[in-house]
Amino acid sequence: MKIAVTGKGGVGKTTLAASLARLYARAGVRVVALDADPDANLAATLGYPDPDAIVPITSMQELIAERTGAQSGAGGTYFSLNPRVDDIPERFCPEHLGVRLLVMGGASRQGGSGCLCPESAFLRALMTHLLFGRNDVVIMDMEAGIEHLTRGTAQAVDALLVVVEPGGRSLETAARVRRLAGDLGLQRVWVAANKVRDDADRQFIRNGLPDMDVVAYVPYRSEVVTGGQGRGNIDALLSGSVGAEIAHLRERLDREFGAPT
Ligand SMILES: Nc1ncnc2c1ncn2[C@@H]1O[C@H](COP(=O)(O)OP(=O)(O)O)[C@@H](O)[C@H]1O
Ligand SMILES: [Mg+2]
Repeated sequence: MKIAVTGKGGVGKTTLAASLARLYARAGVRVVALDADPDANLAATLGYPDPDAIVPITSMQELIAERTGAQSGAGGTYFSLNPRVDDIPERFCPEHLGVRLLVMGGASRQGGSGCLCPESAFLRALMTHLLFGRNDVVIMDMEAGIEHLTRGTAQAVDALLVVVEPGGRSLETAARVRRLAGDLGLQRVWVAANKVRDDADRQFIRNGLPDMDVVAYVPYRSEVVTGGQGRGNIDALLSGSVGAEIAHLRERLDREFGAPT
């Protein structure tokens, strides 16, 4: 199962991506969490002991040069468009509580945009491997867009989860993302409402996105608000009402796409 999580900044993409990843990992499913947001904080949210020590893939320039065989010659730079990447998750992505984490890094936006350079060839190969070459559950924490997906990789994404909160701007982002998803041929675009305080919030979101499928209403919980302290306390979060809603979301995913084993 491959899930991409997107939405406006601050709506709770990382929180929900981390919660889903933990939930699957607890069930003994192999999970790769992909932090594709240049402003990466999935590691901290997942409770990795030393998140700042994790080296983003795009910073591994030597590895990228070695794998792509990048060489500068008279006519420019020569490199392989098909570098070996199948060992990258196991060798270069740290695991914590059953979740393997791949941090793409700040330069990845450029790489994802399809520039002709060794880095983008490497990233593309890695994305293709993660999305097509493995049975793991892959959960991608994206930025407020789906720039990392090409038409090719979008086909492997089972569901694009657009996180919104009760606020007009996040709904606008959702509508824009859906248009982009349509252009990429991504069929299943779901909305996960987050920070929902009451029925008025539910109504606001349902009315604001009348033709989108809202698959979860995750409650606002003041103890979720992180500012250093609550960081990484995903398990505490999952034990409460937020967890109940994430569990529903997982049931829905399993029903729709088949429970991963
Ligand atoms: N359901 C919730 N209730 C209260 N606060 C939340 C909830 N979900 C996320 N938050 C808080 O909102 C802030 C932004 O969440 P985050 O997951 O980092 O968003 P994003 O990845 O979309 O930028 C964080 O401080 C987070 O703890
Ligand atoms: Mg985030």
